[in-house]
Amino acid sequence: MLLTTSRGRENSIGGSTQQPGGQELRVAIVGSGKMAANHARAVASCTVPARVVAVADPSEVALAAMRHVAPDANQFISLTELLAAGGVDVVHICTPPASHVPLAMEALEAGRHIYVEKPFAESSNDAERILEIAKDRGLKVAAGHQLLHEKPTRVAAELLPSLGRISHIESYFSFRTVRRVPGGRVPLASDLQLLDILPHPVYLLLHFLNLSGSGRPELLALNIGEGGTVHALIKQGHLTGSLVVTLEGRPVESYMRIVGTNGALHADYIRGTVQRLIGPGIQDGRQRRRRRASGGSRNPVSDRSDDHNAYGAIVSDARWISTES
Ligand SMILES: NC(=O)c1ccc[n+]([C@@H]2O[C@H](COP(=O)([O-])OP(=O)(O)OC[C@H]3O[C@@H](n4cnc5c(N)ncnc54)[C@H](O)[C@@H]3O)[C@@H](O)[C@H]2O)c1
Repeated sequence: MLLTTSRGRENSIGGSTQQPGGQELRVAIVGSGKMAANHARAVASCTVPARVVAVADPSEVALAAMRHVAPDANQFISLTELLAAGGVDVVHICTPPASHVPLAMEALEAGRHIYVEKPFAESSNDAERILEIAKDRGLKVAAGHQLLHEKPTRVAAELLPSLGRISHIESYFSFRTVRRVPGGRVPLASDLQLLDILPHPVYLLLHFLNLSGSGRPELLALNIGEGGTVHALIKQGHLTGSLVVTLEGRPVESYMRIVGTNGALHADYIRGTVQRLIGPGIQDGRQRRRRRASGGSRNPVSDRSDDHNAYGAIVSDARWISTES
């Protein structure tokens, strides 16, 4: 059932989608809540030709709110009806986590590309099934892992080589307790909150482990506290990774800390900054004696580290790299 038509536009669904500069991407959004509104705004400000042509949500209230953000989009009460109307290239799935898999399957079966909000799926088997179907049909899949594309991640990746041999990566995210809507008075159970918030810290940790070393990640230890704190220790080749995701820690923080033989960096996803701390470099005693015997020039930072003043040197050498555009 088509609930409403776009403001009389002939080409809103199934019509011409050409725009100067290339073919317009026709986007449908399933779910019309908070993230759907963010997606609609992002599509509207996209630098490539793209337009939200349809939205689906069983909630009339949610659809009414969406009309302010995507006034030209046709509205439906289900994905099934939206797909039946045709004229869509990609479906953005912005519904609660448990519905992601069936909706993703339905969109793929109908031959549409998909963008699935995090958590992509609630089990790795489901995630693999989705990817297999997409592969068989030559369709594209994107997960809502947007922090991979934000400036702290990009700047940190560029600075990695300057840190020398990476030895340790820490992913630390503390969150506020999310409250149920509507009403907002009943806190979600901590396991449901963790399911919802774990993806960002986990995929960032795996991303930087992969950029910094070879091999596959191996989970060495995992502890899930009742109050909503997850600790994990991961090994990948010579690297260790630690993960702390907590609902109990304050202040609220989201950062990656990457430590190498020549320094460390701190990528802050709340402030949008990357701080690089220049370390003295690691030399063994033989290297140091050889350099001194050959009259080698003093390295102001490493030589200060010998007399235990390295910390001051490191802090005063800290470079703040603003990642605001
Ligand atoms: N990437 C991020 O940073 C980020 C941030 C917040 C939320 N999210 C994710 O976005 C998703 C949506 O979160 P939200 O905060 O927008 O939730 P929300 O509760 O505000 O909105 C969800 C909407 O989906 C609708 N819905 C439920 N089942 C549906 C179905 N089968 N078909 C169509 N509509 C359906 C509901 O009626 C509701 O309007 C969640 O998976 C959440 O984890 C991602």
